[in-house]
Amino acid sequence: MMSGVLSGCRSVLVTGASRGIGLQIVKDLAKKTERPALIIATARNPAAAEELQRVAKESSGVHVVNLDVTSQASIDAAVEEASSLLGAEGLNCLINNAAIGKTMNLEMVTAEEMLKTYEINTVAPLMVTKAFLPLLRAAATRGSGMGIHRAAVINMSTVLGSIQLNFGSVLGPLAEFKWYPYKASKAALNMVTRCLAVDLESEGILCVAVHPGWVRTDMGGPQADLSVEESASSILSVLAGLSEKDHGGYLDYTGKTLPW
Ligand SMILES: NC(=O)c1ccc[n+]([C@@H]2O[C@H](COP(=O)([O-])OP(=O)(O)OC[C@H]3O[C@@H](n4cnc5c(N)ncnc54)[C@H](OP(=O)(O)O)[C@@H]3O)[C@@H](O)[C@H]2O)c1
Repeated sequence: MMSGVLSGCRSVLVTGASRGIGLQIVKDLAKKTERPALIIATARNPAAAEELQRVAKESSGVHVVNLDVTSQASIDAAVEEASSLLGAEGLNCLINNAAIGKTMNLEMVTAEEMLKTYEINTVAPLMVTKAFLPLLRAAATRGSGMGIHRAAVINMSTVLGSIQLNFGSVLGPLAEFKWYPYKASKAALNMVTRCLAVDLESEGILCVAVHPGWVRTDMGGPQADLSVEESASSILSVLAGLSEKDHGGYLDYTGKTLPW
């Protein structure tokens, strides 16, 4: 379903591609016949990301770039490296995927954990987006309409960041997740997404928050509903179909709109 639609997208950059959903998105993108020519897979410790290195070695157009999303120096260096790869065509799709999250209930939660999680999950995607804006703008000026064929910022959110759904037992087993720092940071990321959507609309840069489902990764744990393969392929189908109507939206991996 996604291959034909993704064909208009020349470049994608993914943060946190060393493992989990980010790695699987890179793998999926790399193996499609009609795929972005340039896939920039970033990791804060590329030397330790062995599987990612293997994917890059075996697939053309996959470049591994060092990026610790909490370091402005690292962000600036990654922008420079990406610029030389992308050239004047700029960047079509930025996927802010890197994040941390773990159980942190009312008894356990500390100011330090709140701030650290906010730094990685909320502040970093905003700073990364700011730094990559010139490259997104370069791509936006070359296209029309809205979507990943032109220029897009995809913020990996979670249903756990929905203020409306996190009350009562609407979330089923996910209601048991007592993750104060993570939930608050992702609710704030949702607001960052909305603010970006307001500011970047006139330039044709699409901004969307996406919930990847509950996925069996280090973060999601072994009880989760979806494999990384199922999640990544669903996410890519959703991304391929994004258009003006989705701008500023909060969608799950099936494309359904979630309540804020
Ligand atoms: N799994 C789920 O059920 C689920 C559900 C909803 C939303 N999500 C969201 O989906 C995204 C991916 O989650 P996941 O399950 O794949 O998580 P994961 O398996 O824990 O992987 C997290 C990724 O983020 C990277 N990362 C963390 N801090 C970083 C930093 N400072 N700089 C650069 N990279 C950093 C990690 O790199 P290292 O290998 O270097 O640590 C790793 O690549 C996250 O935004 C998460 O909130 C996941």
